[in-house]
Amino acid sequence: MNSLNETIIDIHCHILPNLDDGPSSVEEAQEMLERAKEIGITEIVATPHLIWQGEIISKDKIKEAIELLSPKISIYIGAETPLLEAPNLLENGQLIPTGRLILLDTPTIGSLAGLEQLIFKLHLKRFIPVLAHPERNLALARDRNRLEHLKNMGLLFQINGSSLLGVLGKEVKKSAEKLLEWSFVDIIASDSHSPEGMENYRDALLLLRKRWGEQLFRKLTKGNIIKLLKEAREVEQRI
Ligand SMILES: [Fe+2]
Repeated sequence: MNSLNETIIDIHCHILPNLDDGPSSVEEAQEMLERAKEIGITEIVATPHLIWQGEIISKDKIKEAIELLSPKISIYIGAETPLLEAPNLLENGQLIPTGRLILLDTPTIGSLAGLEQLIFKLHLKRFIPVLAHPERNLALARDRNRLEHLKNMGLLFQINGSSLLGVLGKEVKKSAEKLLEWSFVDIIASDSHSPEGMENYRDALLLLRKRWGEQLFRKLTKGNIIKLLKEAREVEQRI
């Protein structure tokens, strides 16, 4: 696998073994890390599903899982928060931010009612919400006015590399391309669950750079992320 000769930060990755639908062994997780390193990824936010099989994952469990790995890549504690449960989790102090970043899992269907109110509440607590893979929710991804409104509220948008490759079908691919065209995308991430997912990410990044240009590629893989991870990079969450 060729490196992209860039340093890349992946803010959405199911890299931790046996916590969710990510790798099912330490070895598989290590293999993902090897692939990530070959691509040029230097920092990863570990984002297991915050609620998995009805249970809320604790920060300690995430930390323990990170410690099982021997990465040559920095791994930050994080989680993928189910959007619909986020208001309760916020109220109960159960969110697991990475610095100030909160990654919100966009459901593929539904109108995402209450999203605006959630953003407002997250901002009150000084969190920075990032909406993961909005391209998968076709109703949202085609509603330019709402996207614009959400963007103006300070919501950041993260698309998945695999969406650009068409892994989830033509419609999702088209939505991801539209979001790029409309300049709504702040970040691209792997959302990978396996070594194969990392390989897809490499292909997606090559495609992004070729089709959308070097400048945007750098912004979405690093430039916009450095600011976002500023606090996580400075404090104990770097392992
Ligand atoms: Fe995910």
